[in-house]
Amino acid sequence: MHISSVSNTQERKDAAVVVVPVWREKEAPLLALREGKEFASLVQFSLSAGDFAGQEGETLLLYRDAQGLEKRVLLVGLGNKSSCTCAVLRNAYASVVKAMRAKKLKSANVLLPETDHIERESLCQAAIEGILMARYTFDQLKGESAQKKGEEARLDTVCFCGLNKAEEKLLQKTEKVIDSVNFVRDLVNGNSDDVTISFLKQMAQDLGKKYSSSVKVKILDKRALEEEKMGLMLAVGKAAVHEPALVILEYTGNPGSKEKIAIVGKGITYDTGGLNIKTSGMETMKADMAGAAVALGIVRAAAELQLNVNFVSALALAENAIGPSSYKPGDVYRSRSGKTVEISNTDAEGRLVLGDAVSYIEEKYGPKQLIDFATLTGGVVVALGEEATGLFATDDALAKALEQSGERTQERIWRLPLYAEYKEYLKSNIADIKNAGPRKASSGSGATFIQAFIKSVPWAHLDIAGTAYLSELKPCHATPATGVGIRLLVDFFEHCDGK
Ligand code: BES
Ligand code: MN
Ligand code: ZN
Repeated sequence: MHISSVSNTQERKDAAVVVVPVWREKEAPLLALREGKEFASLVQFSLSAGDFAGQEGETLLLYRDAQGLEKRVLLVGLGNKSSCTCAVLRNAYASVVKAMRAKKLKSANVLLPETDHIERESLCQAAIEGILMARYTFDQLKGESAQKKGEEARLDTVCFCGLNKAEEKLLQKTEKVIDSVNFVRDLVNGNSDDVTISFLKQMAQDLGKKYSSSVKVKILDKRALEEEKMGLMLAVGKAAVHEPALVILEYTGNPGSKEKIAIVGKGITYDTGGLNIKTSGMETMKADMAGAAVALGIVRAAAELQLNVNFVSALALAENAIGPSSYKPGDVYRSRSGKTVEISNTDAEGRLVLGDAVSYIEEKYGPKQLIDFATLTGGVVVALGEEATGLFATDDALAKALEQSGERTQERIWRLPLYAEYKEYLKSNIADIKNAGPRKASSGSGATFIQAFIKSVPWAHLDIAGTAYLSELKPCHATPATGVGIRLLVDFFEHCDGK
C-alpha cells in the first residue's frame, strides 16, 4: 500500500479517481470543498438528474474528459453539514473504498471536506481511518481465483490532498495503528486450527525478536502452569491437543519509570462450550481469542509507534475442547489464588483462564492498573448489540479514561454496574465460588467472577463479545473481525498519566 499526501491539491499526481466530498443541503447537494470549481458543473449535472443527493455514505462515480488529472470523479455524500460527525466521516470515506472495489479502481486522490465545527485533526483522522479500515479484506480462506480477483480490486495507492506537516505525521501514525488493527483481524478471522496456541506463542516470540529493544517475551507452558498451580487454566485446557499457555510480553517505552499497566486477554482459540456443549452460536467461536489478539496486537502497535509507556500484556491461552479428559461440570478445581471453584458450567471458561491470569500478573508485575479484554458473555451482546463494548470497573478514574478513549476513537464503550449482589449469584455449596450464575445479568456475574481474583489493583474489564466479531458487516469492516481494542488502547496510552 502506498499512502502519501500533498499539501496543495493542485500538486496531486494522476490516479484512477479523485474523491470529492459533498454535503446534503435542503435544496441541493453542495460541494464540501473551498476550492471546487473543477467539479462544480459535474456535481450540478448529477443533482439536476436526481442521481445523487449527498446522503451519508452515498457514492456516485462520474467520468470526465481528461483535461483534469483523473478520468473519474467519485462523489461521496457526507449528509447534512451541521450534523456531520467524525463517525459519519469515517463511514462515508469507508464507503468510497467499497465503491472503488466494485469497479476495481486501485488508486485515488482523496479530497477532505471543509467544516467549521469539527477539529481539523479529528476530521483528517476519521477520513484516513475510514479508508484504511475499509481496505482490509481476508481472502486467505478463499479459492485461488477469488484471491486473485480480490488482489486485482484492492486499493493500493492513496494520496490525501491538502494535508499540512502535522497532518502528514498523523497519516503516518494512523497507517501504523491500522496495520496493527489488521494484524489482530488476521488472527481473529483465521481458522482455529491455524491460529492455535503454538501459533500465537510463535507470534509473540516473533514480536520479541523484531522489537528486541523494547519487547521481552516470557512463556509459561503447561509445566510452568502446573508449577504455578494455575488449576483453572489447566482445567479449561485439559481436553485439547494444544496445551494451554500463559504468554507474557513486557513493553518498555519509558525506561525511566518503574510504573506499568497490565493488559490481559482471554485467549480461547476455540470454544466448544466443553461438556456443556454449545447448542447455538458455536460457529463464531474461533473468535474467542480476540482478547488475547488485542493483548498481542497492542504490543506490536506500541513498538511500532514507540509509545512512551510501560506495560505488560498477557495472553491467557487455552482451547475449550471436548474429550475423555474434559473438565467436568460439578467438579471443583483449585485456582492459583487458592480459591476453589465449582464448575457449574464448562462454557463459562473465559473467566476461569482470566482468574488465574490476572492473579498471576497482579502478584508478579505489580501493575498500577489492570485492564482485561474478553469475549466473555452472550449477555453483553443482548444488552449492547455489536455497537458497544461493555465496561466493568472497580475504579472510576480508570473507567472514565477508557470511556474518553472510547469517545475519541469511536470504539464505543458502555459502563455496566458491578453490584455486590452479583456475588450471591456465584455462591457455591461446596466450593468458595462457582463459575457461572443464572441467566440474569450474566455479563455482570461474569465480571464479578474475575473480580474475585483481583486483590487491590484498579481494574477494568472490557467485554468485547459483541464488538470483536460482527454478524453483520459495517462500512469500515468488510470482514467479521474488527480488531476492536487496538485504537482504544493506543489512545488510552497516549493520554494516560505517568508516561
Ligand atoms: N465465548 C462465550 C461468550 C460469547 C458469546 C462470545 C457470543 C461471543 C459471542 C463464553 O465463553 C460463553 O460461553 N459464555 C456463556 C457463559 C454462561 C455459560 C454463564 C454465555 O454468555 O452464555
Ligand atoms: Mn464459553
Ligand atoms: Zn468463551
